[in-house]
Amino acid sequence: MRVHEKRRDILNHVATFVEQKKTIGFVPTMGALHKGHLALVERALKENQKVIVSIFVNPTQFNTTEDLVNYPRTLDSDIELLSELSKEIIVFVPTPKEVYGDKMSSVTYNFGGLENEMEGKYRPDHFDGVGTVLKHFFNIVTPNKAYFGEKDFQQLQIVKKLVEIEKMSVQIIGCPIYREKSGLALSSRNKRLDQKQLNEAPLIYSILKQAKKDFGTKSVTTLSKWVSEQFKNNDELRLEYFEIAKVSDLKSVKRKQKNTKYRAFIAVFAGKIRLIDNIALN
Ligand code: PAF
Repeated sequence: MRVHEKRRDILNHVATFVEQKKTIGFVPTMGALHKGHLALVERALKENQKVIVSIFVNPTQFNTTEDLVNYPRTLDSDIELLSELSKEIIVFVPTPKEVYGDKMSSVTYNFGGLENEMEGKYRPDHFDGVGTVLKHFFNIVTPNKAYFGEKDFQQLQIVKKLVEIEKMSVQIIGCPIYREKSGLALSSRNKRLDQKQLNEAPLIYSILKQAKKDFGTKSVTTLSKWVSEQFKNNDELRLEYFEIAKVSDLKSVKRKQKNTKYRAFIAVFAGKIRLIDNIALN
């Protein structure tokens, strides 16, 4: 399998693929790969003639240095896992300089308000960092299709908007959340959970499932109150937010309306580790 650090090596591959009229599938990641990432790569392998996977812990999308420094990095096993899927995958593992050049900064985006909801409220500038790094990657890789997990549902909507704003021709494909048997959504950050936190973390998805069950009969206020109560006496998990939002604009609601699609979103701290999850409600 070919692993490249330099942007010019990826540009060379891409130029050959374009000349050969091969379709390119792209899976951007920050590494610490798990089965959720691998499912994205498998789908990309099925739907494209060539597949490029990036592994890059993007500094501009982190809100604290502590989170950036502690983000899990498992490059050797990531490469091993990818090579087990296919030796044909091209892996791009750039340094920040290869991505950003001499000045590592983010574009300030207006994603039509999507950037001000939920993750945007709690992680200021996070989506500018995500948008900027993906703009760089899409320009280098020029993929036909790029794959993202629905665990970061807000990110997925923002990436669709980014492509519209930047007038890029890549098709953005959202893929279902991959869960442990316990229901815990797979995330690279799970690698940092200790045993006690791991035992408690499945509560997040049980709560989402119950909220979905009750969504038809209970008000948004009642549901939100119930969710807060579930975390009150929990020593391992602290609720940051629970919101029920319209899928169309991710604005959180206090009252339900007919003919509107909703999703519930949750962010929880297990110690210093932040976990997010979401579920379609109707
Ligand atoms: O979801 C992620 O892992 C990151 O936000 C992404 C899309 C790779 C951009 O750095």
